[in-house]
Amino acid sequence: MLEASGVAEGRFAAIDPGALPLEVADGMIENVLGEYALPFAVAVNFIVDGTEALVPMAIEEPSVVAAASNAAKMARPVGFTTSASAPVMIGQIQVTRVDNVEAGAAAIRAHASELLEDARRLVPRLAERGGGPVGVEARALATSGPDGGVLVVHLLVDCCDAMGANLVNTLCEAMSDRVASIAGGRPGLRILSNLTDGRTITVRCRIDQAPEIREAVAAASRFAELDPYRAVTHNKGIMNGVDAVLVATGQDWRAVEAGAHAYAARTGTYRPLAVWRDVDGALDGELVMPLAVGTVGGALRSHPSARLALDLAKIDNADRLAALAGAAGLATNFAALRALATEGIQRGHMSLHARAKVSHG
Ligand code: MEV
Repeated sequence: MLEASGVAEGRFAAIDPGALPLEVADGMIENVLGEYALPFAVAVNFIVDGTEALVPMAIEEPSVVAAASNAAKMARPVGFTTSASAPVMIGQIQVTRVDNVEAGAAAIRAHASELLEDARRLVPRLAERGGGPVGVEARALATSGPDGGVLVVHLLVDCCDAMGANLVNTLCEAMSDRVASIAGGRPGLRILSNLTDGRTITVRCRIDQAPEIREAVAAASRFAELDPYRAVTHNKGIMNGVDAVLVATGQDWRAVEAGAHAYAARTGTYRPLAVWRDVDGALDGELVMPLAVGTVGGALRSHPSARLALDLAKIDNADRLAALAGAAGLATNFAALRALATEGIQRGHMSLHARAKVSHG
């Protein structure tokens, strides 16, 4: 299995216990005492957009890797198909003490192309790679209050293969004085939004199942569509797969978690990120969620296991990473619903817990 990845055997030292050099860990965060290890595994059987993939996962919970691999096997005849939106992140510039917020927002709109040109000049290399700032928007938030009239300016940035947090924050900081002066107020916070609804992944699959299982999984999906208490747990089952891939590949999984749940609640009611329908003799699954990930910058610069994870999965761009994380999420969601709707979750879970106990004496 691992030979097929084409990764040289010596590289696997990057996931040996203690493989992260302490001086590297010390350079990543502050007050380092040591390292905190998680099991690193690969889920198998995945075909994503017509290509076979080993899916790296770092997670402490038993059953998730097995569940993803089993679901991917059932999905194999068609595989998972994905489509990623353009990787557009949102930077926010808060402007306070604005006398007339509607006029301030209109002034920003009138200067949008000039502001966009200024912003593009600040990131020439990103613009050369086909990305960079692509839009400026303004919204009035409050006409009055303790900090006067408040508006927010959104700078939309195509981040290419970067997650983009540093890039977007730097741009917002550089643009804020000019933005506030045009809007007629004071610059406030300058920071990206983790509600990355402009950077989503859609994953679909079609799985053959017996009629009673199709009916039960579709009813389980509908339960999540009808009830936020269930929808949260349904989405937790999706994040089991998504987060495990994000942790293995060195991503900011807290950012993705925050964005996923805000996106799930964007209509005002918390909804499932993936739904299942019984259509013409098979189950159609569809996941849509924001997934801001990067294959350049961030922890990837320093973390050897994260780089190994990308190489194992043959991931060389952010869209492919989002596709595999999304496919893992749809797979773990299907496995959970299928188990819950048939034998119940405890049997499978418990047998793996038992295995863990036996193998560790
Ligand atoms: C447990 O980690 C995840 C599940 O609760 C997900 C679900 O209920 O759909 C089994």
